[in-house]
Formats: sequence, C-alpha cells, structure tokens
Amino acid sequence: MTADQWTRRSLLRGGAAVATAVPLLGQAQAAPAGPAPARQEGAPMNAVSFTVNGREVHLQLDPRTTLLDALREHLHLTGTKKGCDHGQCGACTVMVEGRRINSCLTLAVMHDGESVTTVEGLGTPEKLHPMQRAFITHDGYQCGYCTPGQICSAVAVLEEIEAGIPSHATEDLDHVAFSDAEVRERMSGNICRCAAYPNIIAAIRECAGEKQA
Ligand code: FES
Ligand code: FES
Repeated sequence: MTADQWTRRSLLRGGAAVATAVPLLGQAQAAPAGPAPARQEGAPMNAVSFTVNGREVHLQLDPRTTLLDALREHLHLTGTKKGCDHGQCGACTVMVEGRRINSCLTLAVMHDGESVTTVEGLGTPEKLHPMQRAFITHDGYQCGYCTPGQICSAVAVLEEIEAGIPSHATEDLDHVAFSDAEVRERMSGNICRCAAYPNIIAAIRECAGEKQA
C-alpha cells in the first residue's frame, strides 16, 4: 500500500492490530516512547503535619502541592484566595510561624511541624479580629477577593513595626514607627483590583492607634 492509498479506515485497522499485539510484547517493549509522564502512577506521597489555626492536621500530599492548595483543596479553608498563583498579587497571604508569606510560592511539605494562621484563624463572625472590624468600619474592600490577604498582611505589618523591623520607607532605623508611608511600602505586595487602598490604610491606621492606646 502506498502512502496515498492510506485511508482513515485502514489507519484505524492498523492501530487496532498494534494495540492487540502489545500485551504479547515484554513490558519494556510496550512502554510508550517520549518523555516520562509528569507524575508516575503510584509515586510516593509525603506525610505532612502542621498546626493550622490552632488545630493539628495530618495530610498525605503530592510533594509538589503548594501550601495554598493544601489549605484550599485539602483542608477546605477557602478564605485564603488564589489570585495569580505566581507571587504577584498577595491574595494568598497567610502567616507561618508568625511571619507573612505568599502561600502560592511555598510547598506544603516545607512547613512540616510549623504553625499556620489563615484569615479564618484571626477571628470569627461573632468575635472579629480588630483588623477585620476596622476593614468593615472603613469600607476597606469592594469585591473582597483580595481582602483575606490584605487583612493577614496588615496584621503582620503592625507586628513588624512593633518589633522594630525596618522597611525601605523607614527613615530612622533606630526608631521604626507607624506612618502611612510605612504602611504603603509594607502593603505594596497586596494588590487590590478595586483600588480600595485609601480605605485599607485608614483601617490599618485605626488598628495601629488601638494597639498603641
Ligand atoms: Fe499568591 Fe497571587 S496568589 S501572590
Ligand atoms: Fe476587590 Fe480588593 S476589594 S480586589
């Protein structure tokens, strides 16, 4: 049969004949050519344990699972949002061991034994965290998608200032103090598509005042 004599029907017939023959071949011969699949069937999972919002959790995870996916897909803590999944928007901000991080940029297995706080762990509808309350008071959101990340970041920002950790906006390294410029700089990794920035800063300013009072 020449090349131009091949029809769709003859190709399908030929393919079926090869498929029928495969089990008669050795495993090595039957293995498909080309690059190995991204994940081998039966590849080992990793056991990971951490404390999330005060509760100890144990998971079996593909080692490539990000902390963000572990929280959202495995623990169903969907307060933490996936915006860009590339470390650019801050919607996924959570606190690990008291420090804020982008949970989309870190693997869950890297945090075995650590303590994670998400927006669900800050307060409850009945007993809001002061930062959550201030965001409501100052209308610090519109669609709300960035808000959990903004609130987690804002809580950590006040702790950073209190601990004397300087930022690029700090003028006197011996005296790290609250200012709108400090907040703008420190919150610059949290993008708000709705541009609620003046209200977000007002909410953080109120909380800073409460902390100092
Ligand atoms: Fe993590 Fe955007 S989802 S930074
Ligand atoms: Fe809509 Fe910030 S409130 S993205």
